[in-house]
Amino acid sequence: MSEPSMRSAWSNRWTFIMATAGSAIGLGNIWKFPYMTGVNGGSAFVLVFLGCILLVGIPLMMCEIMLGRRAQKNPADGMLHLAREASASPHWRWVGLIGVLTGVLILTFYSVIGGWVIRYILHALAGDFDGANSTIIGNMFSGMLASASSLLFWHTLFTAMTVWVVARGVNHGLEKASKILMPSLFVILLLLLIYSMVEGDFGRALDFMFTPDFSKVTPQAALSALGHAFFSLSLGMGAVMVYGSYLQRHVSIARTSFYIAIADTLVALLAGLTIYALVFKHQLDPSAGPGLIFQTLPLAFGQMWGGQVVGTLFFILVTFAAWTSSISLIEPATAWITENTSVSRSAAAYLIGFCTWLLGISVVLSFNIWQDVQIISGLGIFDTLDKLTTTILLPLGGLMMALFAGWVMRTQHVREELGLQPRTYAIWRFIIRYISPLAITVIFLSLIGLIGS
Ligand code: TRP
Repeated sequence: MSEPSMRSAWSNRWTFIMATAGSAIGLGNIWKFPYMTGVNGGSAFVLVFLGCILLVGIPLMMCEIMLGRRAQKNPADGMLHLAREASASPHWRWVGLIGVLTGVLILTFYSVIGGWVIRYILHALAGDFDGANSTIIGNMFSGMLASASSLLFWHTLFTAMTVWVVARGVNHGLEKASKILMPSLFVILLLLLIYSMVEGDFGRALDFMFTPDFSKVTPQAALSALGHAFFSLSLGMGAVMVYGSYLQRHVSIARTSFYIAIADTLVALLAGLTIYALVFKHQLDPSAGPGLIFQTLPLAFGQMWGGQVVGTLFFILVTFAAWTSSISLIEPATAWITENTSVSRSAAAYLIGFCTWLLGISVVLSFNIWQDVQIISGLGIFDTLDKLTTTILLPLGGLMMALFAGWVMRTQHVREELGLQPRTYAIWRFIIRYISPLAITVIFLSLIGLIGS
């Protein structure tokens, strides 16, 4: 298959929606959202998260697509081009450059977790969950983490899968597959939800996730929720921007962003409810952290009728969800190298993949041999990379993009690109100029302790 030219466009609106939804829906929804909810006090986190999706996420997704489509370039050169167009400082380029780096940093740990999911396909297929209790399932998980060589193997496989697709160009293969696989994931999630409604403690799960308790909204929980809204929607680093740069002119950015955000949020909430119904039924610890889905769902698979098939399918689909996300993490870096050097797309993808793989080894080791290594204030390697990217770099990138679109770009250019009704445009502009930057700043400041507590 020939390589697509860099500025090749999505074949139609749906391919763009599918690819961007594919980028958004991933481990963030099924693995991360449920455990973050548990670690950050349940409903308080969910509430702030939903608020952030609405007030920051959707407007910013429109903003990123708009920037990408207007610039028709990778994020770094795109920001430079747009800054020139607005006669602003060329330093805006840094927003894109830092974004390129952020994506690479996220993939270092994303591929390790993606590897866990692939490993679990085999567990499910082998019937390892059949009739197992929570101790057996717990040991299975800790056993996996303890083996550095096995984690390394799965991390390598996941990285290779990601690079392989990016090297071929995003338009081929995976995009077609995701058209079938994403809806299938949704169906399986619904099935699991029904199972845990019947078998699990669904009432407590609902209560845990939705009964508002504002006293639990600590600055830390709010920042985590904000960061996760960015992570979940793939915002703040140029992934959506680069996808937007391949989007045709006539497609409505607002409607598309809305669909994607709804689908993304729905998947997260479904996964959360399913998992918490099981957590409470089996008296597991809601704040178990990153191992949560690997310690709860297998219990359900082990007990339900046809659990071997459902479990296998589930982990396969999550692998695909993670795969369609991971490719968007290094697409900006790949596009950046390809558009600035004579290096081919595939060589660029392999080069970046090698870097993330190498750095990812430290993440692999942070779950076993280097378990006690701490980078900053008691955080291990995995936690440091996760926190640095999710709660700092992504919101900061988003803040800059909002400020750029709201205050620096010419109004006429933004209007042209968004093509909104005057009233909708006015609302969007108000949010992107004031509300989103304010929300991000307040949450940042409250964490440093300047506001509140
Ligand atoms: N959104 C994906 C998830 O929820 C992860 C992801 C893909 C991402 N591309 C991104 C996160 C860009 C931040 C930025 O799993």
